[in-house]
Amino acid sequence: MNSEATNRFICENINVNEEGHLTFAGLDTTELAKEFKTPAYIMDEARIRHNCRVYTEAFKEHFGGDSRPLYASKANSFKYIYKIMKEEGMGIDVVSSGEILCAYKAGYDLGMAYFHSNNKTDEDISFAMELGIGYFVVDYFEELYAIEEEAARRGITQKILLRITPGIDPHTYVQVNTGTVDSKFGIAIETGQADEIIAEALKLPHIDLVGYHCHVGSQVFAEDVFERAAVVMVRYIAHIYREYGYMVKQLNMGGGFGVRYVDTDPYLNVSEKIADLAEAIHTTCEKEKIPVPTIIMEPGRSIVADAGMTLYTVGSVKRIPFYKNYVSVDGGMTDNPRYALYGSKYTCYTANRMNEKNDMNCNVVGRCCESGDIIQRDVPLPKDTERGDIVAVCTTGAYNYSMASHYNKLPNPPIVMITDGKAREVVRRQTYEDLLSLDID
Ligand code: LLP
Repeated sequence: MNSEATNRFICENINVNEEGHLTFAGLDTTELAKEFKTPAYIMDEARIRHNCRVYTEAFKEHFGGDSRPLYASKANSFKYIYKIMKEEGMGIDVVSSGEILCAYKAGYDLGMAYFHSNNKTDEDISFAMELGIGYFVVDYFEELYAIEEEAARRGITQKILLRITPGIDPHTYVQVNTGTVDSKFGIAIETGQADEIIAEALKLPHIDLVGYHCHVGSQVFAEDVFERAAVVMVRYIAHIYREYGYMVKQLNMGGGFGVRYVDTDPYLNVSEKIADLAEAIHTTCEKEKIPVPTIIMEPGRSIVADAGMTLYTVGSVKRIPFYKNYVSVDGGMTDNPRYALYGSKYTCYTANRMNEKNDMNCNVVGRCCESGDIIQRDVPLPKDTERGDIVAVCTTGAYNYSMASHYNKLPNPPIVMITDGKAREVVRRQTYEDLLSLDID
C-alpha cells in the first residue's frame, strides 16, 4: 500500500471533489480552513494507524517475539498521538522530560518508552525514573554514571541500551546524519570507546544492560544502509560476546526511512525494507553463531509525515516583473522551518483551484520578518491565485508542529485531527494570551 501511488497526488489521502476543491482524508480542505481558520495543521488518524500497522505487521511476520516498532515522538508530540500509539501497540521513543510528561499525561505506559538524547540532565534522569521509564538509551560515560547514581539512590536497577555509532554514512542531509564516527551522538565502535563503555556498564550494580542502539540518519532512501548497519551491529554483538561473554537481549536499529515529499522522491516500501533488514540480521546472526536478539526500530517521519497537511490563507500575490512571483501565506517558518533549515522540498496546491492549470511559478513565503522565511521555492500554482485563497502544503505531519517556534510572536496553529470523516482540534490554536503568559509584569 505504501509502495505505489494509487492516485495522481503526492499522498494517497489527497483528492479533488466535484467543486474542484482539494480533499484530505475525504474532507474538503476549504471547509476545514473555514471551520478551523488558518494556518492549521490537519491530520488523518486513519493514515497514522495504517502507517503503524505496516510496521507492527511486518515486525510480527519477520521478527516475532517481543520485537516491536517504537514511534519516535520527536516527529510530532502531543497527547492524542500517544493515545493512538498505545492503542496500536507501539512503543515510543522520547527525548526530553517534556515528551515524557506529555506521554505520561496521555495515559501511555512508560514501561514501553525509550529515553534518548545526547545530554540528559540530572533532573531529566530523576524525572524519567520517577515516572517509571522503561529504558534509557545511554549516549556517553558521564550519563551512564549519573544513571547508576540515581538508580542506586532509588534502590532500583535501571534497564539501559547503549547508543553505538556503527560508522555508516546514510547519504542523507548533513543535519540528520548520525551514523558516522564524527557525531555528537553515540559511541563509536571504530575508536574502541564502545568496548570501553560496555565494559563499564557491565560493572555497575544498578545498571541492567539490555542491548545496543544505533541510528544512522533520517529521510534515508539509499539502498542497503539499514542492512549494512545491521551487519556491523550483529558482528559487534558477536565480538563483545567473544571478548566479554556478554550477549545482548535487544538490538535497536533506530529510525530513518524516507517519505515522499515531491513527485521525484522514490517510493519506499516499508514492509519490504523490514523484510530485507530481517534477512540481513538473521543471516549474520547465523554466520556469527549467535541468537537473534529482540529487534526494535523507531520510525518517526514514516509514521506521521503523510498523515499531515498544513492549510494557509493567501495574503498577497506579489508579481515582480521579470523576476519572481511571491505568494505570501499567513504562516511560515514558525510552523514549518524545514525549508529554511534544510532546503526541504514540499508539494503545494491552491486548494480551491484544483481544476485550474498550475501556470504560475512562484515562491510560497511566510509572514516572518526574514527573507529566508520560505515554505517552498519555485512552486507551480494557478496564475489566478489571489488573496483569500487556500494554499495547502502536503506531507507536513512530521517535524513541523514539533519544530515550531514563536518568532515574531506568532502563535502556533492548532492540530485538527480527522477521525472517521469528522474533524476536531486535538491541540488548540495558541492565543496571544498564551504567548504572553510567561512574561512577568
Ligand atoms: N531514532 C533516533 C535516535 C533519532 O534520532 C531519530 C530522528 C529517529 C529515531 C526518527 O527518525 P525518522 O524515522 O523520523 O527519520 N528535524 C529533521 C529530522 C531530525 C531527525 C532526528 N532524529 C527533519 O525535519 O528532517
